[in-house]
Amino acid sequence: MKVLVTGGAGFIGTNFVLRTRATRPDWQITVLDALTYAGSRENLSPVADQIEFVRGNVADADLVDRLVADADAVVHFAAESHNDNSLDDPWPFMESNIIGTYRLLEAVRRHHVRLHHISTDEVYGDLELDDPSRFTEQTPVNPSSPYSASKASADLLVRAWIRSFGIEATLSNCSNNYGPYQHVEKFIPRQITGILQGVKPKLYGAGANVRDWIHVDDHNDAVVTILEKGRLGETYLIGADGEMNNRQIVALLLELMGKPADWFDLVPDRPGHDMRYAIDSSKLRAETGWTPKYQDIRAGLTQTIEWYRANEAWWTRDKERTEQAYQRLGR
Ligand code: NAD
Ligand code: TYD
Repeated sequence: MKVLVTGGAGFIGTNFVLRTRATRPDWQITVLDALTYAGSRENLSPVADQIEFVRGNVADADLVDRLVADADAVVHFAAESHNDNSLDDPWPFMESNIIGTYRLLEAVRRHHVRLHHISTDEVYGDLELDDPSRFTEQTPVNPSSPYSASKASADLLVRAWIRSFGIEATLSNCSNNYGPYQHVEKFIPRQITGILQGVKPKLYGAGANVRDWIHVDDHNDAVVTILEKGRLGETYLIGADGEMNNRQIVALLLELMGKPADWFDLVPDRPGHDMRYAIDSSKLRAETGWTPKYQDIRAGLTQTIEWYRANEAWWTRDKERTEQAYQRLGR
């Protein structure tokens, strides 16, 4: 199978390409990635001679048409992915996430190519801390930020192309990922790399916001499972029952990295900050048999901390610029 992976040089895409080279060696992989600040071609150097790499924009209709024409399936990760950036400058989110997805949809429609669209649980908005419910595939979209609104827009386009044009597509909405190769702007790598540099973790607001954490390998295994066993036209929620508030995550990082429990700062909150995300992934589990391998976040975070310790050169190049941007935002 010839698989076009968009955004394959970013956090989740890199892990997807490296992992599927090992688990699906018969797949021929082409990566399409614009190499924004969030993507790095070096990430793929262990498999550079086994894949094709194309630097380009998913919003480039001609390029996308050419690449899709030559593929059997597309896995669409490419997106601007950080909420804080979307509050600072929404436009790249509109172009990459909405127009980029539209270009891909038109290409897969023309060439009858299978699509799997990667999305986030953030399209559903947020839940209250004391609400026992979780998101399901029936939850109405209700996004809060320019990032989540752009992803919800893309999801709606995919659903419309399925219904109106009969394209062969599936969608998945996953909860917050952690693991190797995640950019230092995101919560967990920002704190791990800060602690390694002797800087206290920074918690937005009171640190009470809850995210439903999943290891990136579990997310990617679910994506492969949906590609192989998912029903066309369907949406699947991906989650590993990993709800924790931000204070609890910081407490665990401090413990695992040998720092005192009170060694953190509270900083001004993110505007419009979603309170809680929680995923009910029973549809995916019941239909496909997928289960997460990292049941224990302590094991997953230990592995992730080790990766950042061992790959200092990978993250130091972005660290200073990222922290300067946070300083400008007062966070
Ligand atoms: P990331 O920011 O680390 O990587 C995004 C990649 O896409 C980068 O390599 C970047 O260069 C590329 N890209 C951006 N705009 C592009 C464009 N216009 N054309 C081509 N390439 C472009 O993001 P990530 O965390 O790996 O997220 C990947 C996907 O998974 C996104 O669609 C995101 O919405 C979704 N998702 C992420 C999470 C999470 O916790 N990180 C959770 C659920 C879903
Ligand atoms: P983030 O990794 O940006 O993911 P998302 O906004 O998509 O959930 O943030 C995860 C949580 O951590 C979110 O509640 C915001 C919070 N946060 C902090 O408390 N401090 C930080 O330095 C960052 C980057 C995020």
